[in-house]
Amino acid sequence: GAPVEINVSKVQPGQLIRAEWRGKPIYVIRRTEETLKALANHEDQLRDPESVEPQQPDYATNEYRSIKPEFMVALGVCTHLGCAPTYHKDDFSEMVEGVKGGFFCPCHGSKFDLAGRVFQGVPAPLNLVVPEHSFPTEGTLLIG
Ligand code: FES
Repeated sequence: GAPVEINVSKVQPGQLIRAEWRGKPIYVIRRTEETLKALANHEDQLRDPESVEPQQPDYATNEYRSIKPEFMVALGVCTHLGCAPTYHKDDFSEMVEGVKGGFFCPCHGSKFDLAGRVFQGVPAPLNLVVPEHSFPTEGTLLIG
């Protein structure tokens, strides 16, 4: 499939936008400074906090699982059986105490943080997949 270009220049802090690439849903979130800081606060609750599993390209094997820390780019596909996790911007503490934002999979209850990292004790075995992507210009995201 052809790469997909997404204009991210107008995405607001905290906002999630959706796209489609190769028939799969893509989630893009503009993370706030607060969100980025908070990612370090719950690493002991994660299954693969360091992204040891190859669920992302090498250039996104870092603490934010991204090229630009402010942009999270991931497949909106649960790594258990493929349902679409729902985005919880600031009401995730009902799912995981002390964690403000994350993703919840309605099918069997898997939980992921705002870097797409899976929490322990849920059916999903792996972090969300970060697809190949780049930023050819400041406000343009290219998937694929
Ligand atoms: Fe997401 Fe099963 S498909 S928890």
